[in-house]
Amino acid sequence: MIFGRVKPLDAILATAEKKSLHRSLGAFQLTMLGIGAVIGTGIFVLTAEAAQKAGPGMMVSFVIAGFVCAVAALCYAEMAAMVPVSGSAYTYSYAVMGELVAWMVGWALILEYAIAAGAVSVGWSGYMMGFIQNNFGIVVPLQLIRGPFDGGMINLPAMAVAAIVTALLVKGTKESASVNAILVGIKILALAMFVIVTIPVLKTGQFTPFAPLGFAGISGAAASIFFAYVGFDAVSTAAEETKNPQRNMPIGLIGSLAICTIFYMLVAAGVIGTVGAQPVYGPGGEVLSPGTPALSQACSALTEQAVVCSKEALAWTLRSIGHPFLGWLVGAAAIIALPSVILMMMFGQTRIFFVMSRDGLLPEFFSRVHPKFHTPHVITVLTGIFVSLFAAFFPVGLLADVSNSGTLFAFAAVSIAVLVLRRTDPTRHRPFRTPAIMVTAPIAIAGCLYLFVSLSGPTIALFFGWAVVGLVVYYSYSRSRSHVGRGLVDVPEIDADAPPQPVPPIGDAHTPGYKDA
Ligand code: ALA
Repeated sequence: MIFGRVKPLDAILATAEKKSLHRSLGAFQLTMLGIGAVIGTGIFVLTAEAAQKAGPGMMVSFVIAGFVCAVAALCYAEMAAMVPVSGSAYTYSYAVMGELVAWMVGWALILEYAIAAGAVSVGWSGYMMGFIQNNFGIVVPLQLIRGPFDGGMINLPAMAVAAIVTALLVKGTKESASVNAILVGIKILALAMFVIVTIPVLKTGQFTPFAPLGFAGISGAAASIFFAYVGFDAVSTAAEETKNPQRNMPIGLIGSLAICTIFYMLVAAGVIGTVGAQPVYGPGGEVLSPGTPALSQACSALTEQAVVCSKEALAWTLRSIGHPFLGWLVGAAAIIALPSVILMMMFGQTRIFFVMSRDGLLPEFFSRVHPKFHTPHVITVLTGIFVSLFAAFFPVGLLADVSNSGTLFAFAAVSIAVLVLRRTDPTRHRPFRTPAIMVTAPIAIAGCLYLFVSLSGPTIALFFGWAVVGLVVYYSYSRSRSHVGRGLVDVPEIDADAPPQPVPPIGDAHTPGYKDA
């Protein structure tokens, strides 16, 4: 039975209600939180990939992706405000659509978080290497700074940054609101400076042909650039700490998305209007996909470099139009700010693993807590190893696309869950209600589907391959160990800020005061 084994919402909420967080966040702080999680590799790096797919039409791609995120965000917010516990989309699905769907959503969230962390690590590496090369004249062999699909062998800097972030997470580093505010400031200043310098000198001629690869190109770029908006879910998960969530939550969500969309469009216009954003074609005029050896080759054959070949699109643009110092500043901003996005993504991943482990669906040792640092060191290190490997060998665009496939699946699942719950449980208290749900949720679901099918063929194939592996793991391991399936009492929900507690060993779920050995 597909929709069996529902984890009762009341059981989830009963434990969540015990911890009552101080409602301190207003619309402004929420917006800052959103911008902090959102601005990263997407705009700093993937702008070049979007240009390769859509040309100047990438501006439309930014709007489409932002719109789909906005409607999905409104659905997400209703769930987040109603079920303010860890596990996000996985937990909501467990309560509404049962264990199998929840498992698949949790499995897809691994793509969202771990692969996204890998993508941002690769993005960081591009900026770091560009910085070193342009400022110190040190040329590190391509073999060591790019993965095999991208003209190199292994991306060591990307591995290194993932390893450093892992170490910080094991030690228990968490981003504080003030650090977040500083990093948001740095990112906004860098993008604002980019816009101020480029927009006045843009040439309208650079915008034609506007869509050299047609609407298919614009859709493909929208599906990829969706990555630039991922992270806004951080806003919805703060619902419990929000003053007047019915008013502030939509302002925070839509506000941060709107600000990012406007910045993204202006930045895209700045790139297009100054250095041009026409795709690079193969020797026979064939369309080349970003992150492929063929594009790397075509790029090395160019006499005049193009932005689509750059691994640090914004810094490169500024240098190309005669502003090396500003290019330096933007590069420095990316190098400083991107690791915090990696940190948030990896933190989110360990949290999802925990909740799944605590529900018995993943091995108990995943949720072991370090005796000194009180952090979930086992799963953090395991996550770190995988993130480093993704970062070492895969190109940023592919990682971002695969991450998007998981995120789109999870967003669609949440949008469906919101609709279902309105029908099955209409009287439940909802601190925030999605406006015009009968319109908003179907648009969100359709939008996610549209972006999903606009992803590249290999990405979609990887997603389904991953889903099949997930089903095999579920039926061969998780299903028989599920705490809900075995009728065990839920282990109490943890505080969202505390390291999750270990799951009692099988058969020992009722032992009070269980401590990790
Ligand atoms: N939106 C985040 C980024 O672009 C994940 O890096």
